Amino acid sequence: MPGKDTYKRAQKVLAGGVSASMRIHPYLERPVYVTHGDGAHIWDETGAKLLDFNNSNGATMLGHNYPAVQDAMQELMNKGPVSAGESEEHVQLAERLCKIIPSAERVRYASTGTEATSLALRLARHVTGRQKFLKFNGHFHGLADAFLFQPRDTIHASAKPQAVSGGVPSSYAYDSLSVSWNDRDALDAMMEREGTSIAAIICEPVWYNAGCVPPDEGFLEHLREVADQYGCVLIFDEVLSGFRMAPGGAQQHYGVMPDITTLAKALANGMPLSAVVGKAEYMEQLAPVGPVAHSGTYSGHPLAIAAANAATEILSKKKTYTDLNKTANWFYEQLQESFDAANVPVRVQGVGARFGLYFNREEDVRTSEDAATNDHNLNRQFVTGCFDRGVYFHAYRTAGAPGHSGITLSHTREQLSEALNVIQDVAKSLER
Ligand SMILES: Cc1ncc(COP(=O)(O)O)c(C=O)c1O
Repeated sequence: MPGKDTYKRAQKVLAGGVSASMRIHPYLERPVYVTHGDGAHIWDETGAKLLDFNNSNGATMLGHNYPAVQDAMQELMNKGPVSAGESEEHVQLAERLCKIIPSAERVRYASTGTEATSLALRLARHVTGRQKFLKFNGHFHGLADAFLFQPRDTIHASAKPQAVSGGVPSSYAYDSLSVSWNDRDALDAMMEREGTSIAAIICEPVWYNAGCVPPDEGFLEHLREVADQYGCVLIFDEVLSGFRMAPGGAQQHYGVMPDITTLAKALANGMPLSAVVGKAEYMEQLAPVGPVAHSGTYSGHPLAIAAANAATEILSKKKTYTDLNKTANWFYEQLQESFDAANVPVRVQGVGARFGLYFNREEDVRTSEDAATNDHNLNRQFVTGCFDRGVYFHAYRTAGAPGHSGITLSHTREQLSEALNVIQDVAKSLER
């Protein structure tokens, strides 16, 4: 078996057999070895063609091998890209981001989402002179030390959080506060107790890392209010939600302005580029003008900047989203109908180009507790059944909230209809 054989080789030379822990497909119990992608499809090392609902964990929003992005990178490859240098293209992209991201007045590039969220937190700590921050249970902001804590006990919010990784300084636990998503009462109680020592409130404005859990009506507005009331910096981690449903991401879609935003993934259609954007008065605290350290050899890598200039030209157009949201909403309705027709209780939730499937659930998923009810036994049967028939859903874990999936600008209604036929057949075969 090629996939299994490669994994055996990998386990002898790659730590843990992979290059990133989430590359193990937990239901297939091995990584999927991908050779290349084109449009809505990827190919694995056996030559199998798979309709891709993972899209590089949400990074390839336009689709794989997207011509305008490929051409821009190829042109630079032919000339000779130079790392660790500034170019006019860096300025051009920042000008566009300041135009299309409503709260962006200044931009700083980095390479990964984790770098961006870490820097956003550092900035917030500097401008407030405070150390603690508030996040929401299960929201994913990358694997930097600060974010590697979860509440030990969701009932007694004051209990010291526990580290979810080895090697994380336990003293950091005291800085990490969290409450359940969409739980206003818990948020208000936490703010009343800790608000004046909190530097930042950070959230995924649409919680895609648990499938897709949108904010309740008024919840983001409430975050803005309490952040102002207690003098905290409001950070929207739009690494996934950026460009997902509107050119200006979730902040534009819901009309709520954060102080600082993190972007990555769709920004460069899968090339390693992230950005911290926000209020000039905060952003100008970054070195070399201000005292907050940030630099990096690969920050704003020229190939990624070329890709991002090409990608955001398309992602800055309203028309792109009229078409995309129409296709996405049509697909989510059809998906729900497919599960209903197969008589399998699955709740489909989607916003813009990304969605979540909650197995063994009929009600809305609103909170961290709701998301955790996903039935992984059914989820696994579904994902492996689809995989065998050429439809690829990634999975990130075998317990708790499900992973996120999505479509791209390259997914056609015809391809999606074919996938729906497979999905309905597989759904019918699930054993409860
Ligand atoms: C919302 C969010 N923030 C941060 C990150 C971390 O980004 P990266 O994997 O590029 O470090 C991710 C990655 O999935 C994410 O989804």
